[in-house]
Amino acid sequence: MKVPLLDLKPQYEQIRAEVEPMLLEICKSQTFILGPKVQECEAAVAAYCGAAHGVGMSSGSDALIVALMAEGIGAGDEVITAPYTFFATVGAIARVGAKTVFVDIDPATFNLDGAKLEAAVTPRTKAIIPVHLYGQMADMDAVMAVAQKHGLIVIEDACQAIGAEWKGQRAGSLGDYGCFSFFPSKNLGCFGDGGLVTMRDAAKARKVAILRNHGMDPKYHHREIGGNFRLDALQAAVVTIKLKHLDGWTAARQANAARYEKLFAQTAAVKSGQVTLPAVKTNRHIYNQFVVRAERRDGLLAHLRGRDIGTEIYYPVPLHLQECFRPLGHRAGDFPESERAAKETLALPIYPDLTDEMAAWVVGSIAEFYGG
Ligand SMILES: Cc1ncc(COP(=O)(O)O)c(C=O)c1O
Repeated sequence: MKVPLLDLKPQYEQIRAEVEPMLLEICKSQTFILGPKVQECEAAVAAYCGAAHGVGMSSGSDALIVALMAEGIGAGDEVITAPYTFFATVGAIARVGAKTVFVDIDPATFNLDGAKLEAAVTPRTKAIIPVHLYGQMADMDAVMAVAQKHGLIVIEDACQAIGAEWKGQRAGSLGDYGCFSFFPSKNLGCFGDGGLVTMRDAAKARKVAILRNHGMDPKYHHREIGGNFRLDALQAAVVTIKLKHLDGWTAARQANAARYEKLFAQTAAVKSGQVTLPAVKTNRHIYNQFVVRAERRDGLLAHLRGRDIGTEIYYPVPLHLQECFRPLGHRAGDFPESERAAKETLALPIYPDLTDEMAAWVVGSIAEFYGG
């Protein structure tokens, strides 16, 4: 049976009747850059995240860059984050000219290890970027405590975690900034690239909005250098429509996770520890990904692909070992949990339209690989 890692076509059928007339209306209006559709999207997403302000962005990567720019973070400054994340988190720090200081991950959640955070703070530290990987929030008690003690800015990389909660508070509502991605594979994806920054503070929101548009304020007057980081009206309208369905889709992902847990509980692979299921330590995991640890991971991956099951490794090389970050001077062994995760993790299909049959085929195929 073919089980793709992600299939967005059934989701498109659900929203088609709403989306297509809206896109046509925007085409007829020929109003594409910023404007009311973007404002509507910003207000709706910020409210969903429990944040006072939202500013639409061209991508999640640009959201991170602009948040750093808004704080004037650059050469000579240090920013703390985890080495086990998508490239863009650390790419953004490097792009503004700051130095990344890594903190290893908690092996249970794959998120930054709160207990190791404070030791990474130096007099040059300006910000912490906790990444809410796979849809589960990082240890925000530790992050906020260290940030408050040392006067640091917190930029949540919530690109994979819209609607996730830490003790009842949504991703993007705890830090100074929350950065979101509307990349199509995210739980709230648009029809191309898009992103958004949430903020509590009105002055920060205004600065982010100005930087997003070349630092222009008022028109054709520039006190600072920004860029073109704008979200367009077509993407914003898609996000606003999809947002109304997001809780239903998230509930379906959570139900799929529960179904996997039930099916896996019967398998020798899980009972013997050859496969470890994701640990949930927060009260609302939104399962952008369902990632297991697996013995002989690469063999399992080949086995599943041979059975037409979509899987992926997020991520095979931790960022401290990427060639482009060699100037940071790290070597293998520096962040052992991130390195181990890179060798052991495998994402399984978890998208909302996964069926019972498909989940059973995935678990059955994994059980078969380990001999039942
Ligand atoms: C953790 C993380 N950070 C940043 C990004 C960057 O988002 P985008 O692809 O919208 O630039 C992504 C998604 O791709 C991500 O998963």
